[in-house]
Amino acid sequence: MRIETPRYTERFGAVRLNDVQKVLELDAGRGDGCAAQEGLAVQRIDEATLRDVEQRMAIVLPTKDEKLKLFEGVIGGIPHECLMILVSNSERERVDHFRMEWETLEQYCQFTRRHAIAVHQKDPTLGRALQAAGYPHVLDDDGLIRDGKAEGMIVGMLLAKLAGKDYVGFIDADNYFPGSVWEYVRSYAAGLSMANSPYSMVRILWRYKPKLSTHGFYFKKWGRVSQTTNRVMNALVSINTGFETDVVKTGNAGEHAMSIRLAEILPYAAGFAVEPQELLSIFEAYGGIHAAPDRDAARQGVQIVQLESRNPHLHEDKGQNHLLEMLMAGLGAVYHSSLSDDTVRDLIRDELDRQGALPRDHAPPCPTVMPPFGDADVEALNEALGECCHDIWISGRPK
Ligand code: GDD
Ligand code: MG
Repeated sequence: MRIETPRYTERFGAVRLNDVQKVLELDAGRGDGCAAQEGLAVQRIDEATLRDVEQRMAIVLPTKDEKLKLFEGVIGGIPHECLMILVSNSERERVDHFRMEWETLEQYCQFTRRHAIAVHQKDPTLGRALQAAGYPHVLDDDGLIRDGKAEGMIVGMLLAKLAGKDYVGFIDADNYFPGSVWEYVRSYAAGLSMANSPYSMVRILWRYKPKLSTHGFYFKKWGRVSQTTNRVMNALVSINTGFETDVVKTGNAGEHAMSIRLAEILPYAAGFAVEPQELLSIFEAYGGIHAAPDRDAARQGVQIVQLESRNPHLHEDKGQNHLLEMLMAGLGAVYHSSLSDDTVRDLIRDELDRQGALPRDHAPPCPTVMPPFGDADVEALNEALGECCHDIWISGRPK
């Protein structure tokens, strides 16, 4: 892979946030005769390095009632070396959609000689295991894991840690192009291999998100939700550094990856506020404004890499209400951040009002924020879950 060298890095306390780097070449060739460092503008990441990171990475697939054909395509795009972790919150009563998912995954693993883990978010054993591990923060009063993509992601991260992985990445299960899934995971590996801190994160900016219009396809660059989230996020960074910036371009990035060492020290917001809150959690803890909770992370710094894909992104259209819900969740996280001030909060009220999401005299709701999972006892989790040594380990599988 060849990727642009970062041209600009915003420094915010111990946080280093690179401006967007474009993926230039998906396959950088054999590399015979290539110098290790080719030039100032471009970085070449060789196959062995990518595979090494992929082997140390788990890919979490949060899923809720997506079309099986899409799920099948998505798993086909995940590089061979990665461990796949399906965290499903799909229907089980009317039709057992989860069963269809794990059967598809199991068959795929048999043919491709892969390993995978599949769990259902509402499996009571999983709820009990989290309780046993001392991490009850995602559980409801009945001891079951609450609905939500973020809650599924936390389960996936804990399982990645349990599996001994050093990195964890996320891929939505409603992606139409297996080739773009492949590119995202390769980009995670490239970005994480380039990072010069053990506390690192890679966030993907899609080159285009095609929309079908009356004139055919229109290759849209920015979605309305991401544009707004980035704007308020940049306002928040600007007021805290005193210098206006537009460096944040991946405030909502669902496609992202982290080192486990970073993942386990971050607080997470519930539902769709999760991705903006990850950035806020990093800024709040390591931006130099408040005392850093983890001294080693403060010493080594947290590095965030933003990569622009070659592939366009095409996924399921979930409708207008879903977009408003996502907008409100993300802006609510920024609004209630300890780094926010009246200027940022006014901007957020204006945006929510302008977009018809909330009248100006209303504040967006404060997201539920769950503490880091770093202190959870993964051995106790393992014991409570039982053996996980088959080609595919599936929770709640009928005996
Ligand atoms: N496990 C689990 N539990 N998965 C869920 C749940 C849940 O309760 N709810 C949704 N998912 C899964 C979906 O099935 C899909 O695979 C993925 O999470 C993302 O959900 P979508 O409903 O497709 O979200 P989106 O496409 O509108 O938004 C995506 O992109 C945004 C950035 O543009 C998400 O990744 C957002 O988190 C992201 O901010
Ligand atoms: Mg989607």
